[in-house]
Amino acid sequence: MISNETRARFDALVAKYPERRSALIPILHAVQAEAGYLSPEAIAWVAAYLDLSAADVMSVASFYDMLNLEPVGRHMLYVCHNLSCTLLGGERLIRHLEARLGIRCGETTPDGQVTLRRMECLGACGAAPVLQLDGVFHEQMTAERADALLERLRSESA
Ligand code: FES
Repeated sequence: MISNETRARFDALVAKYPERRSALIPILHAVQAEAGYLSPEAIAWVAAYLDLSAADVMSVASFYDMLNLEPVGRHMLYVCHNLSCTLLGGERLIRHLEARLGIRCGETTPDGQVTLRRMECLGACGAAPVLQLDGVFHEQMTAERADALLERLRSESA
């Protein structure tokens, strides 16, 4: 499951920390980047690699919204629904995206292209409403700008 190249990268990463377990989060991100999500097999592999229990690894992996415990779409679209964003149209934006994509928050489009999720504060409250697409922040979002982002994704995957 984990390539030799990735394993060598992990060995170098672990060597930077005083304790192996300290490398857990960066390793989970790297495994997810390679495998797409953190399967039970991936959780078990990371646990064995870092001398942790699978429950230890799972307790961390299930805490962070950015770590996926099930398959997701090619593109991850997070929309903030915390206070500032909701007051400035975040919920309307979520409903708009659900309608445009034909899915509910938490789901992936049938073509496997986009997973839509709600997110607690994305940390850019002064620029609400905010969404994050594949790790890139888009601030002061409107339905029109969100549509343009979706259109760009469609044209890039065509
Ligand atoms: S409330 Fe949306 S970024 Fe903080």
